[in-house]
Formats: sequence, structure tokens, C-alpha cells
Amino acid sequence: MFTRKTDLTAPAAHCLLKDVGVNDINRQHLRLASYAVEFNRIVDEMSAREPTNSDWRRIDALFSRVMRYVETHFRDEEKLMQVHGYPDYPTHKNLHDRFVADLVKVQSQINNREMRFKKKFGSMLWDWLIHHINEEDYKYREFFRDKGLK
Ligand SMILES: [Fe+2]
Ligand SMILES: [Fe+2]
Repeated sequence: MFTRKTDLTAPAAHCLLKDVGVNDINRQHLRLASYAVEFNRIVDEMSAREPTNSDWRRIDALFSRVMRYVETHFRDEEKLMQVHGYPDYPTHKNLHDRFVADLVKVQSQINNREMRFKKKFGSMLWDWLIHHINEEDYKYREFFRDKGLK
């Protein structure tokens, strides 16, 4: 078993993510998980020393990628729900919106070079993703399967 999040590689993350029944969505989840692993790795490195300008630039670059890809993923997932009339769409959309609002707050901490973002965000991305995918996204698996998606 893994003792630290940074021990996780993308294939290992794949084993921890539940199959939500739609291949394209599973692929997007895996990519998000690999970003979370990468992020934890950088944050871990930064915890051992004062972050340099180049550390911050890596964080900036990765965080922008995370924001863009989270938005892409949520848009695709929500569109699928709307197209197929998923009954829990409003609740699910609300969870997505709240997470994006949290990410925006973290981004402003990063922009201000506030070290406190580390404590919160070091595991936030990973914990949120795993919980959301395995608990919330997993709920639509049967629904989309019944619609013939795979
Ligand atoms: Fe998702
Ligand atoms: Fe979702």
C-alpha cells in the first residue's frame, strides 16, 4: 500500500480511481489524478526548503494547467448530463462550481506567493478528486450505461 501521495504514479492512481462507465470521462479523470500527483510532488519538494522563483513558476504553470483541465472536464461531464437528462445534474453541477470557487481562492494565494496555500492545497486536489470521482461521479455510472454510453 502507498504511504505517501507522492509515491503514486499515474498507473497506481488509475487503480484507485473507480471506473465511472464512460471511457472518455475515465481518461479525463486519470489525467486530473496525474496532475494531482505532480502537484503533490512539487509541494513536497517545496516543504523541505524555501521555494525559489523557479519553484513558484512550476507551481504557476501546473496550476494553470489544472484550472484549465478541471474546467474542460467539468464542462464535458456536465454537457453529458444535460444531453441525457441526468436527474441529479443540479446537485452535481453545484459540487463542481464550489470546487472551482475553491480553486480560484487557491490561485490567488499562489499569485500572492502565500506559503499557506501548501498546507491546504497539498492534499486538497487529490482528496477532492478521489472523493468526487469515486463517490459522486460513480453515481452516474448505471445511468449512463442504461443510456448505452461506454
Ligand atoms: Fe468527473
Ligand atoms: Fe463530477
